Order: sequence, then structure tokens, then C-alpha cells
Amino acid sequence: MTHRDPTPEAWRAVDRYFTETLVGHDAALDAAVADQGAAGLPAIEVAPVNGKLLHLLARISGARRVLEVGTLGGYSTIWLARGIPDGGRVVTIEAEPANAAVARANIDRAGVGEKVDIRVGRGEDVLPALTGEKPFDLVFIDADKESNTLYLDWAARLGREGTVVVVDNVGRGGEVADRGTTSSQVIGTQRGLAMLGDDPRFDATALQTLDAKGWDGVALAVVVRPGER
Ligand code: DHB
Ligand code: MG
Repeated sequence: MTHRDPTPEAWRAVDRYFTETLVGHDAALDAAVADQGAAGLPAIEVAPVNGKLLHLLARISGARRVLEVGTLGGYSTIWLARGIPDGGRVVTIEAEPANAAVARANIDRAGVGEKVDIRVGRGEDVLPALTGEKPFDLVFIDADKESNTLYLDWAARLGREGTVVVVDNVGRGGEVADRGTTSSQVIGTQRGLAMLGDDPRFDATALQTLDAKGWDGVALAVVVRPGER
């Protein structure tokens, strides 16, 4: 095997190759991205390969109940909803009512509206109200990075042993490894990763990603019984 550092052209070509070969094209997802952009929302939805990863994780884990923190325009929500069976539920939390309206239309057009419950409000206000419901099988955290530790705490509380937890944007163009960073988002990301490493309720890893959204990363964890990892 030859070793070379990836140039942007090379890794973008690889991402396109993976996307074309394995993910394909999809009218509902393309329309969701287009309408999100037309409504002025930022283009910070997950890359297609990452959306497909979420979808596969839902299927691999047999998830029926999914919790998403950070709906944006519903792109990842559609991927997740397609990964759970009929009768399953994605509860997705969005702080910005205008985003939630865009997401609702995108999700309904994709034909998964019955599976998706959008809760409008800040995570810290909405999450406690989910206590007492059946545990979530998969939690995807993709909102304000400053609150990642709070969201992880709720993921453990609202999950069960075996719940899959995914955290988006843990690479941040390499900034995550900068221990002197002053970015509140990067500090929030670092605190979330430290929690995944230290908190006995989780066992976790993280992978760097080079995809349509650039150089970033995704953390993957499982909720464990304390003492079991
Ligand atoms: C940002 C947030 C995201 O969730 C993402 O995927 C990319 C960027 C941001 O806040 O800059
Ligand atoms: Mg994200």
C-alpha cells in the first residue's frame, strides 16, 4: 500500500466516489437540502455518507426509538426515520421554530412524517420532559456544542444499557486537539469527549471524517452499566 497524505482534491474525490457508489441520489433528501438553503438555514447538515451511517446504526442496533438533539432542516432526521420500523419514533429537538417548520415540511415530503415528533425548544428545557417515556435506543447529538455534556447526561438518563450514542462534529477541522482553544464550541466538544472517556455510563471512541463537510469527526458510544466497561 502506498502512503500519502490526503490532498483536499483527493479526499473530496474519495467522498464523491463513496457517495455515488454506496449512498446514491435521493429526491427527498436533495429537496430537503435545497429547501433548507432557500429558507436561509446554514448548510451544516451531515454529509450524505454520514447520514447513511446514522441510518445504518439505527438498523444495526434495531432501534425503534431515536432521540435527536438538533433537527436543523431535518436531513439527518429523515435518514434516521428511514432506519427504524413502522411504529417507531424519532423524537427530534429543535430550538429554532423557523428551522422546525422547514424540517416538518421536509420530513413530511420524505414520507416519514408519522415517525417523527419534532419538539420545539431548547434541549435543556425539552429533555427533562422526556423522562418516564420508554428508553431511547439511539441518541444523535448535533446541536450547540457548548451543551454536549448536558446532552450526553440526558442521553444516558433517557437511554438504557446498550443505547447507541452518536455525537457529531467532534473533529472541528483539527481544532479539537488544541488544548489552548478559546472557542466555546470546541471547548464544549472537548468536554463532551472527556465525559465519554471518563463517565462510567459510557464506552466510546471517535473517528475523524473527511467528507463533503470537510475535516471533522464523529464520536460513537454505548451506554453501559457502571463497572461493566
Ligand atoms: C456547526 C454545527 C454543526 O452541527 C455542524 O455539523 C457543522 C457546523 C457549527 O455550529 O458551526
Ligand atoms: Mg453537526
